[in-house]
Amino acid sequence: MKNILIVGANGFTGRKIFTDLSSCSNYQVTGCSLHPDIAPLSGTAFVSADIRDAKAVAKLFETVRPDVVINTSALSVPDYCETHHEEAFETNVTAVGHLAEQCEKHGARLIHLSTDFVFDGGEERLYTEDDLPIPVNYYGITKLQSEQVVAARCCDWAVARVCVVYGKSLPGQHGNILQLVYNRLTKGETIKVVKDQYRTPTYVGDISKGVQALIEYTGNGIFHLCGKDCVSVAEIAFRVADRLKLDRSLILPVSTTEMNEATPRPMHSGMSIAKTSRLIGYEPISLDEGIDLMFLNN
Ligand SMILES: NC(=O)c1ccc[n+]([C@@H]2O[C@H](COP(=O)([O-])OP(=O)(O)OC[C@H]3O[C@@H](n4cnc5c(N)ncnc54)[C@H](OP(=O)(O)O)[C@@H]3O)[C@@H](O)[C@H]2O)c1
Repeated sequence: MKNILIVGANGFTGRKIFTDLSSCSNYQVTGCSLHPDIAPLSGTAFVSADIRDAKAVAKLFETVRPDVVINTSALSVPDYCETHHEEAFETNVTAVGHLAEQCEKHGARLIHLSTDFVFDGGEERLYTEDDLPIPVNYYGITKLQSEQVVAARCCDWAVARVCVVYGKSLPGQHGNILQLVYNRLTKGETIKVVKDQYRTPTYVGDISKGVQALIEYTGNGIFHLCGKDCVSVAEIAFRVADRLKLDRSLILPVSTTEMNEATPRPMHSGMSIAKTSRLIGYEPISLDEGIDLMFLNN
């Protein structure tokens, strides 16, 4: 039986992985997050720890003695990172260094989540794992640095880059663009969305399946774990409206220039899943199937 430690288990993606792996009989799973467990499940172990603290991380590893560590923790809001550099660096880079160091000491495999925001988005094609990452904002810079820390310090590692993660969130977790569109349209409110930024939105359950495959896969490397549809953010909003029969006239598509956001974002950061499909058999669902699962299936 493999002993798995999931860091960031209160977070949106971390909680889904925590819940799914906890129901597998071949894994013994411990969740870890900064704050106490947001939704305790009977039979699961959970430890609160601040992974920016090297001593706390060493103690965590002594207690859990993991075979595999899945790091989903991050400061993942680009606008916040842009104005809080030191805090973003501590969580997204320094803390990952602590995890990497302990993984090496304990012979554990480190599976670290990263982002499409490592790319500058200047290419109008899907990015592959071999493409040169050139982040355009501070969040992307820290996530790229975290990937480099993992690759440099670990013998047994995988970086899983995900993109616009969606699915049902728990109270206390941040939402996602699909939820925001749904909330606005059901209240009869308008929503502005960019029409010239392209992404490969990822159903959170697909990340969980991909991570499980990466636990069993023995090679090192970067893997794109995202959806298979590359669409603009406006198209995501229209798909939600159309599948759920909501008023699409409330969606106001605008250009990036018109949106005038303070934090720069890549224009085309859709990622190719060809390598991940070939090496670990990753097969994500479509965006329409994901919308149905999120809103229509209980
Ligand atoms: N969400 C997206 O659309 C998206 C897109 C691309 C990439 N990603 C990447 O995917 C991963 C997961 O993102 P997410 O949005 O699911 O994350 P999230 O919901 O923001 O959750 C991150 C979790 O990290 C935990 N955390 C933060 N600082 C910590 C610390 N010092 N010590 C221990 N735990 C700490 C927090 O725990 P508490 O709640 O206990 O404070 C939080 O629940 C991240 O690597 C992110 O960069 C996400």
